[in-house]
Amino acid sequence: MENVKIIGCGYAKAKVKVSNADLEKIVETNDEWIQQRTGIQTRYVTDEENTSDLAVKAAQKAIEDAGIPVEDIDMILVATTTPDCITPSTACLVQEKLGLNGKECTALDINAACSGYVYGITLASCLLEKYKTILVIGSETLSKILDWTDRNTCVLFGDGAGACILQKSESNRLFSYTKSNGDVNGVLMAQGLPIKKPLENGTKDYGYVQMDGKEVFRFAVKAMQESVEKVLEKANVSLEDVDLIIPHQANIRIIRHVAKKMRLAEEKFFVNLEEFGNTSSASIAIALACAKEQGKLQPGMKIVLTGFGAGFTCGAVYIEW
Ligand code: UT7
Repeated sequence: MENVKIIGCGYAKAKVKVSNADLEKIVETNDEWIQQRTGIQTRYVTDEENTSDLAVKAAQKAIEDAGIPVEDIDMILVATTTPDCITPSTACLVQEKLGLNGKECTALDINAACSGYVYGITLASCLLEKYKTILVIGSETLSKILDWTDRNTCVLFGDGAGACILQKSESNRLFSYTKSNGDVNGVLMAQGLPIKKPLENGTKDYGYVQMDGKEVFRFAVKAMQESVEKVLEKANVSLEDVDLIIPHQANIRIIRHVAKKMRLAEEKFFVNLEEFGNTSSASIAIALACAKEQGKLQPGMKIVLTGFGAGFTCGAVYIEW
């Protein structure tokens, strides 16, 4: 569906603000390296709130922003790579915590890594033929799956959540483009539970984020540029007419490379990674809500969200605000 409007959005920070100096105390790193190589200064880490708790906080702000009763929500999509449980889904936990248990509401999770929010909005826009008011959330507690002794990964990520609500619209258009590549080489991954081999009694390392940073960097630049170009082609809008690009907040150097390759001013890109770090599925969700809070989204503006992530997944959403 193309006639779609985002009627509200919100975000939630995890409780503990962690500076680069704090990380110097636990791994061999320093503020200068982290800032120069990534642009990150701080990130928020949860102490007891789980993914569904952060998701609910972001959702409540989005509901308030939209000015609708919570009962209007008939679908909940949660993009996450760090669910509270293997089952039930985080979306079902959010449904319960929003007081929508037993109501006519369908809830499910999406895992598309850092592209999760773009995938969530894409699916929601298609599902608006069937559901009226869809809550899309990106929420992560990545601190649960980080190896806090691995300086290659632990300095990059943070916890948090962002949410938006979609409805059909008379005039606002929304287009999306998504692609997954099928990464079987483990360039960016976190292992699941190992297959149990009771007769062999074997053990296996699993759980933590592992990545080849340089390979991910190369993919990121190409994927975001291509995704933005593809979605604008679909919307029949030229790059010059875009007012704001909200990219996945992984690394300022990735965003600068994309800007350079697309011959765009860096100011066209919304950036808040210096405060939040990389919050995976939550990153674009938080950035969109922060941009709105800062008055950077005005009616009629042409906005593009774009992300990339493990899988390798990527995509973009074009929104007329
Ligand atoms: O949502 C998607 C998630 N992933 C990404 O977005 C990752 C994309 N990639 C990147 O952002 C960058 O590749 C990194 C920030 C991960 C790394 O930056 P880099 O410029 O590619 O650095 P590097 O991996 O080539 O490391 C350079 C040096 C190495 O030392 P030597 O071999 O030159 O002596 C690393 O061991 O920096 C060292 N290093 C660190 N030093 C201090 C790596 N991590 C750290 C650290 N603090 N935290």
